Amino acid sequence: MEFQFAGRMQQFQAGIFSVLDQRRKAVEATGRKVYNLSIGTPDFQPAPHVMEALREAAADPENYKYALTELPELLEAVQNWYRSCYGVELETDQIMSVYGSQEGLTHIGLALCDPGDVVLVPNPGYPIFEMGPMLCGAKIAYYELRPENGYLPDLDAIDPALARSAKMMVVSYPANPVCVAAPRAFYEKLIAFAKKYHIIIVHDNAYSKIIFDGRESLSFLSVPGAMEVGVEFNSLSKTYNLTGARISFVMGNREIIQKYRTLRSQIDYGIFLPVQKAAIAALNGPQEGVEAQCLAYQARRDALCGGFRSIGWDVPDSQGSMFVWAPVPAGYGSSAEFCFALLEKTGVLCTPGDAFGTLGEGHVRMALTKTPEEIGEIIRTVQAAQMF
Ligand SMILES: Cc1ncc(COP(=O)(O)O)c(C=O)c1O
Repeated sequence: MEFQFAGRMQQFQAGIFSVLDQRRKAVEATGRKVYNLSIGTPDFQPAPHVMEALREAAADPENYKYALTELPELLEAVQNWYRSCYGVELETDQIMSVYGSQEGLTHIGLALCDPGDVVLVPNPGYPIFEMGPMLCGAKIAYYELRPENGYLPDLDAIDPALARSAKMMVVSYPANPVCVAAPRAFYEKLIAFAKKYHIIIVHDNAYSKIIFDGRESLSFLSVPGAMEVGVEFNSLSKTYNLTGARISFVMGNREIIQKYRTLRSQIDYGIFLPVQKAAIAALNGPQEGVEAQCLAYQARRDALCGGFRSIGWDVPDSQGSMFVWAPVPAGYGSSAEFCFALLEKTGVLCTPGDAFGTLGEGHVRMALTKTPEEIGEIIRTVQAAQMF
Protein backbone atom coordinates (compact mmCIF):
# COMPACT_ATOMS: atom_id res chain seq x y z
CA MET A 1 0.00 0.00 0.00
CA GLU A 2 1.25 3.45 -0.81
CA PHE A 3 0.88 6.12 1.86
CA GLN A 4 0.26 9.77 1.35
CA PHE A 5 1.87 11.37 4.39
CA ALA A 6 1.07 14.83 5.68
CA GLY A 7 2.74 17.68 3.85
CA ARG A 8 4.29 18.88 7.11
CA MET A 9 6.50 15.77 7.17
CA GLN A 10 8.55 17.32 4.38
CA GLN A 11 9.92 19.78 6.95
CA PHE A 12 11.77 16.96 8.69
CA GLN A 13 14.70 16.08 6.49
CA ALA A 14 17.41 13.80 7.90
CA GLY A 15 19.91 16.58 7.21
CA ILE A 16 23.32 17.22 8.60
CA PHE A 17 23.02 15.13 11.79
CA SER A 18 22.70 11.83 9.99
CA VAL A 19 25.59 12.80 7.69
CA LEU A 20 27.72 13.66 10.74
CA ASP A 21 26.80 10.36 12.35
CA GLN A 22 27.85 8.41 9.26
CA ARG A 23 31.17 10.28 9.18
CA ARG A 24 31.66 9.65 12.91
CA LYS A 25 31.16 5.90 12.40
CA ALA A 26 33.57 5.92 9.46
CA VAL A 27 36.25 7.71 11.52
CA GLU A 28 35.71 5.34 14.46
CA ALA A 29 36.04 2.36 12.11
CA THR A 30 39.59 3.49 11.31
CA GLY A 31 40.43 3.10 15.01
CA ARG A 32 40.68 6.82 15.70
CA LYS A 33 39.25 8.08 18.98
CA VAL A 34 36.26 10.37 18.46
CA TYR A 35 35.60 13.23 20.90
CA ASN A 36 31.89 13.80 20.46
CA LEU A 37 31.10 17.43 21.28
CA SER A 38 28.06 17.56 19.03
CA ILE A 39 25.33 16.65 21.54
CA GLY A 40 24.15 18.59 24.60
CA THR A 41 23.54 15.69 26.97
CA PRO A 42 25.15 16.43 30.36
CA ASP A 43 27.69 13.91 31.65
CA PHE A 44 27.01 15.07 35.24
CA GLN A 45 24.71 12.95 37.41
CA PRO A 46 21.52 13.73 39.32
CA ALA A 47 22.03 14.28 43.07
CA PRO A 48 21.67 11.08 45.19
CA HIS A 49 18.68 12.48 47.13
CA VAL A 50 16.83 13.07 43.84
CA MET A 51 17.43 9.50 42.64
CA GLU A 52 16.43 8.20 46.08
CA ALA A 53 13.12 10.10 45.96
CA LEU A 54 12.39 8.60 42.54
CA ARG A 55 13.40 5.10 43.65
CA GLU A 56 11.20 5.26 46.75
CA ALA A 57 8.20 6.59 44.84
CA ALA A 58 8.65 3.97 42.11
CA ALA A 59 8.33 1.21 44.75
CA ASP A 60 4.79 2.33 45.62
CA PRO A 61 2.12 0.84 43.31
CA GLU A 62 -0.17 3.80 44.04
CA ASN A 63 2.24 6.01 42.10
CA TYR A 64 1.52 4.22 38.81
CA LYS A 65 -1.93 5.74 38.40
CA TYR A 66 -2.68 8.68 36.14
CA ALA A 67 -1.29 11.74 37.89
CA LEU A 68 -3.79 14.00 36.05
CA THR A 69 -2.18 17.15 37.44
CA GLU A 70 0.70 18.44 39.55
CA LEU A 71 1.00 17.34 43.20
CA PRO A 72 0.31 20.32 45.52
CA GLU A 73 3.80 19.81 47.04
CA LEU A 74 5.30 20.14 43.57
CA LEU A 75 3.54 23.45 42.88
CA GLU A 76 4.69 24.68 46.28
CA ALA A 77 8.27 23.60 45.51
CA VAL A 78 8.15 25.55 42.23
CA GLN A 79 6.79 28.61 44.05
CA ASN A 80 9.64 28.43 46.58
CA TRP A 81 12.21 27.82 43.83
CA TYR A 82 11.12 30.89 41.87
CA ARG A 83 10.96 33.02 45.01
CA SER A 84 14.39 32.05 46.35
CA CYS A 85 16.28 31.84 43.04
CA TYR A 86 14.76 34.69 41.09
CA GLY A 87 12.67 36.78 43.51
CA VAL A 88 9.48 35.91 41.58
CA GLU A 89 6.11 35.33 43.29
CA LEU A 90 3.86 32.84 41.50
CA GLU A 91 0.33 31.69 42.32
CA THR A 92 -0.30 27.99 41.74
CA ASP A 93 -2.50 28.74 38.72
CA GLN A 94 0.48 30.44 37.07
CA ILE A 95 2.47 27.17 36.95
CA MET A 96 2.11 24.11 34.72
CA SER A 97 4.39 21.09 34.30
CA VAL A 98 5.33 19.81 30.84
CA TYR A 99 7.29 16.80 29.59
CA GLY A 100 10.42 18.87 29.12
CA SER A 101 10.65 22.30 27.52
CA GLN A 102 10.97 20.59 24.14
CA GLU A 103 7.44 19.20 24.45
CA GLY A 104 6.17 22.41 26.01
CA LEU A 105 7.58 24.54 23.20
CA THR A 106 6.19 22.12 20.62
CA HIS A 107 2.63 22.51 21.84
CA ILE A 108 2.32 26.06 23.18
CA GLY A 109 1.72 27.45 19.70
CA LEU A 110 -1.40 25.28 19.43
CA ALA A 111 -2.93 27.25 22.29
CA LEU A 112 -1.75 30.67 21.11
CA CYS A 113 -1.60 30.72 17.32
CA ASP A 114 -3.95 30.13 14.44
CA PRO A 115 -2.58 28.98 11.08
CA GLY A 116 -0.97 31.95 9.36
CA ASP A 117 -0.22 33.88 12.56
CA VAL A 118 3.27 35.34 12.57
CA VAL A 119 5.79 34.10 15.15
CA LEU A 120 9.17 35.79 15.62
CA VAL A 121 12.03 33.36 16.28
CA PRO A 122 15.81 33.82 16.55
CA ASN A 123 18.22 33.09 13.72
CA PRO A 124 20.38 31.30 14.73
CA GLY A 125 18.28 29.54 17.35
CA TYR A 126 17.44 26.25 18.99
CA PRO A 127 15.42 24.33 16.36
CA ILE A 128 12.17 23.74 18.30
CA PHE A 129 11.67 27.52 18.59
CA GLU A 130 10.64 27.53 14.94
CA MET A 131 9.50 23.93 14.59
CA GLY A 132 6.82 24.23 17.32
CA PRO A 133 5.05 27.21 15.73
CA MET A 134 5.53 25.69 12.25
CA LEU A 135 3.69 22.55 13.35
CA CYS A 136 0.60 24.59 14.17
CA GLY A 137 0.74 26.32 10.80
CA ALA A 138 2.14 29.62 12.02
CA LYS A 139 4.25 31.76 9.71
CA ILE A 140 7.84 32.06 10.89
CA ALA A 141 9.66 35.40 10.76
CA TYR A 142 13.26 35.45 11.90
CA TYR A 143 14.89 38.11 14.00
CA GLU A 144 18.63 38.26 13.61
CA LEU A 145 21.22 37.50 16.25
CA ARG A 146 24.53 39.00 15.15
CA PRO A 147 27.87 39.13 16.93
CA GLU A 148 28.12 42.92 16.43
CA ASN A 149 24.97 43.29 18.61
CA GLY A 150 26.23 40.85 21.23
CA TYR A 151 23.80 38.29 19.75
CA LEU A 152 20.85 40.26 21.17
CA PRO A 153 18.03 41.20 18.79
CA ASP A 154 18.07 44.81 17.63
CA LEU A 155 14.42 45.44 18.50
CA ASP A 156 14.49 48.92 16.97
CA ALA A 157 15.54 47.41 13.64
CA ILE A 158 12.53 45.05 13.43
CA ASP A 159 10.19 46.37 10.75
CA PRO A 160 7.18 47.94 12.56
CA ALA A 161 4.80 46.33 10.03
CA LEU A 162 6.25 42.93 10.87
CA ALA A 163 6.13 43.65 14.61
CA ARG A 164 2.48 44.70 14.32
CA SER A 165 1.63 41.45 12.53
CA ALA A 166 3.44 39.23 15.08
CA LYS A 167 1.43 37.22 17.57
CA MET A 168 4.24 35.58 19.52
CA MET A 169 8.01 35.87 19.91
CA VAL A 170 10.34 33.18 21.22
CA VAL A 171 13.34 34.47 23.17
CA SER A 172 15.96 32.49 25.06
CA TYR A 173 19.00 33.51 27.12
CA PRO A 174 21.55 32.23 28.08
CA ALA A 175 21.31 31.25 24.44
CA ASN A 176 21.88 27.97 22.68
CA PRO A 177 23.78 27.97 20.33
CA VAL A 178 25.33 31.46 20.53
CA CYS A 179 26.30 31.19 24.24
CA VAL A 180 25.59 34.73 25.40
CA ALA A 181 23.54 35.88 28.39
CA ALA A 182 21.13 38.82 28.29
CA PRO A 183 21.28 41.64 30.84
CA ARG A 184 18.19 42.80 32.74
CA ALA A 185 18.07 45.99 30.62
CA PHE A 186 17.48 43.87 27.52
CA TYR A 187 14.37 42.28 29.05
CA GLU A 188 13.05 45.73 29.99
CA LYS A 189 13.32 46.77 26.33
CA LEU A 190 11.78 43.48 25.22
CA ILE A 191 8.76 43.93 27.48
CA ALA A 192 8.24 47.50 26.21
CA PHE A 193 8.44 46.15 22.63
CA ALA A 194 5.93 43.39 23.43
CA LYS A 195 3.51 45.86 24.96
CA LYS A 196 3.85 48.33 22.09
CA TYR A 197 3.11 45.71 19.44
CA HIS A 198 0.91 43.38 21.50
CA ILE A 199 3.20 40.36 21.15
CA ILE A 200 3.22 37.37 23.51
CA ILE A 201 6.74 36.62 24.73
CA VAL A 202 7.71 32.98 25.28
CA HIS A 203 11.03 32.91 27.13
CA ASP A 204 13.01 29.68 27.37
CA ASN A 205 15.27 29.75 30.44
CA ALA A 206 16.92 26.34 30.06
CA TYR A 207 20.38 27.56 31.11
CA SER A 208 19.72 30.13 33.84
CA LYS A 209 21.85 28.09 36.25
CA ILE A 210 24.75 27.64 33.83
CA ILE A 211 25.97 31.21 33.62
CA PHE A 212 29.56 32.33 33.96
CA ASP A 213 31.88 34.95 35.43
CA GLY A 214 29.41 36.09 38.08
CA ARG A 215 26.66 37.13 35.65
CA GLU A 216 23.18 37.30 37.19
CA SER A 217 21.07 34.15 36.91
CA LEU A 218 17.74 35.76 36.22
CA SER A 219 14.23 34.97 35.23
CA PHE A 220 12.40 36.95 32.55
CA LEU A 221 9.44 36.90 34.97
CA SER A 222 11.41 38.94 37.52
CA VAL A 223 11.40 41.95 35.20
CA PRO A 224 8.46 44.34 35.79
CA GLY A 225 5.72 43.84 33.21
CA ALA A 226 6.81 40.34 32.14
CA MET A 227 3.75 38.65 33.69
CA GLU A 228 1.52 40.87 31.53
CA VAL A 229 3.15 39.86 28.26
CA GLY A 230 4.33 36.29 28.53
CA VAL A 231 5.50 33.06 30.03
CA GLU A 232 8.78 31.35 30.79
CA PHE A 233 9.85 27.74 30.43
CA ASN A 234 12.38 26.49 32.97
CA SER A 235 13.50 22.90 32.66
CA LEU A 236 15.04 20.63 35.29
CA SER A 237 16.94 18.82 32.51
CA LYS A 238 20.24 20.68 32.62
CA THR A 239 20.10 22.31 36.06
CA TYR A 240 19.54 18.98 37.84
CA ASN A 241 20.78 16.52 35.17
CA LEU A 242 17.32 15.03 34.69
CA THR A 243 17.22 15.09 30.88
CA GLY A 244 15.66 11.61 30.64
CA ALA A 245 13.08 12.17 33.37
CA ARG A 246 11.35 14.79 31.17
CA ILE A 247 10.13 17.50 33.47
CA SER A 248 9.98 21.23 33.01
CA PHE A 249 7.60 24.04 33.95
CA VAL A 250 5.92 26.86 32.10
CA MET A 251 5.06 29.83 34.30
CA GLY A 252 3.86 33.38 34.14
CA ASN A 253 0.80 35.03 32.64
CA ARG A 254 -2.25 33.37 34.22
CA GLU A 255 -4.51 33.57 31.17
CA ILE A 256 -1.88 31.99 28.93
CA ILE A 257 -1.15 29.21 31.43
CA GLN A 258 -4.85 28.46 31.86
CA LYS A 259 -5.50 28.35 28.12
CA TYR A 260 -2.46 26.17 27.61
CA ARG A 261 -3.59 23.86 30.44
CA THR A 262 -6.95 23.44 28.69
CA LEU A 263 -5.12 22.31 25.56
CA ARG A 264 -2.73 19.98 27.37
CA SER A 265 -5.55 18.36 29.36
CA GLN A 266 -6.72 16.99 25.98
CA ILE A 267 -3.40 15.37 25.17
CA ASP A 268 -1.86 14.42 28.53
CA TYR A 269 -2.82 12.90 31.91
CA GLY A 270 -0.02 14.33 34.03
CA ILE A 271 3.61 13.57 34.73
CA PHE A 272 4.51 10.16 36.22
CA LEU A 273 4.26 10.62 40.01
CA PRO A 274 7.77 9.30 40.82
CA VAL A 275 9.17 11.94 38.45
CA GLN A 276 7.11 14.60 40.24
CA LYS A 277 8.55 13.36 43.57
CA ALA A 278 12.07 13.52 42.14
CA ALA A 279 11.42 17.10 41.00
CA ILE A 280 10.17 18.03 44.49
CA ALA A 281 13.38 16.58 45.98
CA ALA A 282 15.52 18.47 43.46
CA LEU A 283 13.79 21.82 44.03
CA ASN A 284 13.47 21.57 47.82
CA GLY A 285 16.87 20.00 48.43
CA PRO A 286 20.29 21.57 48.83
CA GLN A 287 21.33 23.74 45.87
CA GLU A 288 25.10 23.69 46.46
CA GLY A 289 25.46 20.99 43.79
CA VAL A 290 23.88 23.30 41.20
CA GLU A 291 26.39 26.03 42.02
CA ALA A 292 29.34 23.60 42.01
CA GLN A 293 28.20 22.28 38.64
CA CYS A 294 28.06 25.79 37.20
CA LEU A 295 31.68 26.32 38.28
CA ALA A 296 32.63 22.96 36.76
CA TYR A 297 31.08 24.03 33.42
CA GLN A 298 32.98 27.30 33.70
CA ALA A 299 36.27 25.42 34.24
CA ARG A 300 35.50 23.40 31.08
CA ARG A 301 34.71 26.61 29.22
CA ASP A 302 38.07 28.03 30.33
CA ALA A 303 39.87 24.87 29.25
CA LEU A 304 38.17 24.68 25.84
CA CYS A 305 37.96 28.34 24.80
CA GLY A 306 41.27 29.31 26.42
CA GLY A 307 42.93 26.14 25.11
CA PHE A 308 41.87 26.81 21.54
CA ARG A 309 42.95 30.43 21.77
CA SER A 310 46.39 29.29 22.98
CA ILE A 311 46.87 27.30 19.77
CA GLY A 312 45.68 30.02 17.43
CA TRP A 313 41.90 29.49 17.12
CA ASP A 314 40.11 32.65 18.29
CA VAL A 315 37.21 31.12 20.22
CA PRO A 316 35.39 33.61 22.49
CA ASP A 317 34.49 32.70 26.07
CA SER A 318 30.90 31.52 26.43
CA GLN A 319 28.89 33.65 28.83
CA GLY A 320 26.52 30.81 29.69
CA SER A 321 24.86 27.53 28.54
CA MET A 322 26.69 24.23 28.18
CA PHE A 323 28.14 25.09 24.77
CA VAL A 324 30.84 27.02 22.95
CA TRP A 325 30.18 28.96 19.73
CA ALA A 326 33.33 29.09 17.65
CA PRO A 327 34.01 30.93 14.39
CA VAL A 328 35.08 28.79 11.45
CA PRO A 329 38.73 29.53 10.71
CA ALA A 330 39.69 31.11 7.37
CA GLY A 331 40.13 28.76 4.45
CA TYR A 332 36.97 26.67 4.74
CA GLY A 333 33.98 27.03 2.41
CA SER A 334 31.35 26.28 5.06
CA SER A 335 30.78 25.24 8.67
CA ALA A 336 30.02 21.70 7.52
CA GLU A 337 33.26 21.50 5.50
CA PHE A 338 35.24 22.60 8.57
CA CYS A 339 33.38 20.11 10.82
CA PHE A 340 34.23 17.24 8.48
CA ALA A 341 37.89 18.32 8.27
CA LEU A 342 38.16 18.66 12.06
CA LEU A 343 36.59 15.23 12.56
CA GLU A 344 38.79 13.53 10.01
CA LYS A 345 42.05 15.15 11.16
CA THR A 346 41.49 15.14 14.94
CA GLY A 347 38.44 13.02 15.83
CA VAL A 348 36.72 16.11 17.31
CA LEU A 349 33.05 16.15 16.35
CA CYS A 350 31.11 19.40 16.57
CA THR A 351 27.88 20.71 15.04
CA PRO A 352 27.91 23.02 12.02
CA GLY A 353 26.32 26.35 12.89
CA ASP A 354 23.91 26.34 9.96
CA ALA A 355 22.00 23.51 11.70
CA PHE A 356 20.60 26.39 13.83
CA GLY A 357 19.64 28.70 10.98
CA THR A 358 21.21 30.51 8.06
CA LEU A 359 23.02 33.00 10.32
CA GLY A 360 24.73 30.11 12.08
CA GLU A 361 26.83 29.54 8.97
CA GLY A 362 30.41 30.53 9.72
CA HIS A 363 30.35 29.03 13.22
CA VAL A 364 30.38 25.62 14.88
CA ARG A 365 28.92 24.59 18.23
CA MET A 366 30.73 22.42 20.75
CA ALA A 367 29.24 20.98 23.95
CA LEU A 368 31.01 21.29 27.31
CA THR A 369 30.53 17.61 28.04
CA LYS A 370 34.16 16.60 28.67
CA THR A 371 36.29 17.07 31.77
CA PRO A 372 39.11 19.68 31.74
CA GLU A 373 41.58 16.76 31.47
CA GLU A 374 39.82 15.36 28.40
CA ILE A 375 39.60 18.88 26.97
CA GLY A 376 43.39 19.19 27.46
CA GLU A 377 43.78 16.01 25.39
CA ILE A 378 41.48 17.48 22.72
CA ILE A 379 43.53 20.69 22.54
CA ARG A 380 46.81 18.73 22.21
CA THR A 381 45.28 16.53 19.50
CA VAL A 382 44.05 19.55 17.52
CA GLN A 383 47.41 21.30 17.97
CA ALA A 384 49.24 18.23 16.66
CA ALA A 385 47.04 18.28 13.52
CA GLN A 386 48.35 21.81 12.78
CA MET A 387 45.02 23.12 11.56
CA PHE A 388 45.55 26.67 12.86
C1 LIG B 1 17.52 26.09 24.65
C2 LIG B 1 16.96 24.74 24.96
N1 LIG B 1 15.66 24.64 25.28
C3 LIG B 1 15.12 23.45 25.58
C4 LIG B 1 15.86 22.29 25.53
C5 LIG B 1 15.19 21.00 25.83
O1 LIG B 1 14.93 20.90 27.20
P1 LIG B 1 14.07 19.73 27.82
O2 LIG B 1 15.00 18.62 28.15
O3 LIG B 1 13.44 20.35 29.03
O4 LIG B 1 13.07 19.32 26.81
C6 LIG B 1 17.21 22.34 25.22
C7 LIG B 1 18.02 21.13 25.15
O5 LIG B 1 19.15 21.08 24.75
C8 LIG B 1 17.77 23.61 24.91
O6 LIG B 1 19.07 23.73 24.57
